[in-house]
Amino acid sequence: MTRHTLFSNTPVEIGENSGKDNYIMAIESSCDETACAIVKNGREVVANIVASQIKTHAKFGGVIPEIAAREHLDAINVVIEEAFQQSGLTGKDITAFAGTVGPGLVGCLLVGLNAAKTLALAYDKPFIGVNHLNAHLCANYIDTDLKPPFMALLVSGGHTQIIDVESYSKQTIIGETIDDAVGEAYDKVARLIGLPYPGGPKLDKMAQEGNPLAFSLPQARVDGFNFSFSGLKTAVLRLVKSFNDKDLPVADICASFQECVSSTLLNKVKKALSETNYKQVVIAGGVAANSEIRKKIFSLENEGYKVYAPPMKFCTDNAAMVAACAYFNTNTFDDINVEVFSRVK
Ligand code: KG4
Ligand code: ZN
Repeated sequence: MTRHTLFSNTPVEIGENSGKDNYIMAIESSCDETACAIVKNGREVVANIVASQIKTHAKFGGVIPEIAAREHLDAINVVIEEAFQQSGLTGKDITAFAGTVGPGLVGCLLVGLNAAKTLALAYDKPFIGVNHLNAHLCANYIDTDLKPPFMALLVSGGHTQIIDVESYSKQTIIGETIDDAVGEAYDKVARLIGLPYPGGPKLDKMAQEGNPLAFSLPQARVDGFNFSFSGLKTAVLRLVKSFNDKDLPVADICASFQECVSSTLLNKVKKALSETNYKQVVIAGGVAANSEIRKKIFSLENEGYKVYAPPMKFCTDNAAMVAACAYFNTNTFDDINVEVFSRVK
């Protein structure tokens, strides 16, 4: 696709048909990670820097948006400098600069997006604004030869979706949660049973020591490819209340919760696959780092599907996925005046 440099308006070819090596520098700051990466031709990561704010927010048990935005301000120049250093490249070598536009925390997004715009202006390169959810899917292009079409399960802190990815730029959400996202359910249940922030990965770890069949928790019956996880959360709350604090079988509750969530996800993905002739499945988003969800979705390989999942570091928020998205997806925000947005419009 042809994009244009910001001052001289020179055309620049970006993507698989550009005929030249593309080096895209991307910045991600939608939540509590300040990240900068440089990716060559959409698949080869030449620099990947992530500054995590977990320690800061752990004190509060969750992300405090205003504090997160200020931490992004402190970290942004550092991650950009480190990415240049790690790659050995300079601004002149970069083909285009990309940044996450949304969805995310507005104050946080502003920091990274303005940095990406500024770099594009300073080096007179094209600017590419990226949707954070599309970027999560594109993490699967890194170090693989994956090409659409495929069915995707996107599971993050704010979203749970089944997406029909027909081509690099054409994707249709065919199912989503009608209440809590999977990551949100993990974090809420973790808090309920006294696990510290960030709850999802801690709950996953604890689940590995428990019996997944200890408690039978309800799989919500929702039409089509949609999901609901708020009932499950209430069921866990009821279960927790039925014990004295000191006798709480934490590992068994974690394992039973994880079993219920992962089976629900697998069933819906199977249902979606049965209605297409796709032979490829991908998972993406922070919760795609979950051990049991990965195991269950990878079990589809026994049924003849090819399954893709990003390595852990590209499941949770990072900028390499944003750069991959800027390279492959032409459905981006290329206007320098684009505004950040908190929710999918
Ligand atoms: O994609 P992400 O980094 O941020 C959003 O865009 O939301 O996802 C963060 C979510 C959090 O809810 C976190 O608890 C969850 O991903 N998460 C996990 C695991 N690792 C991260 N949930 C369950 N098991 C994990 N191993
Ligand atoms: Zn994310």
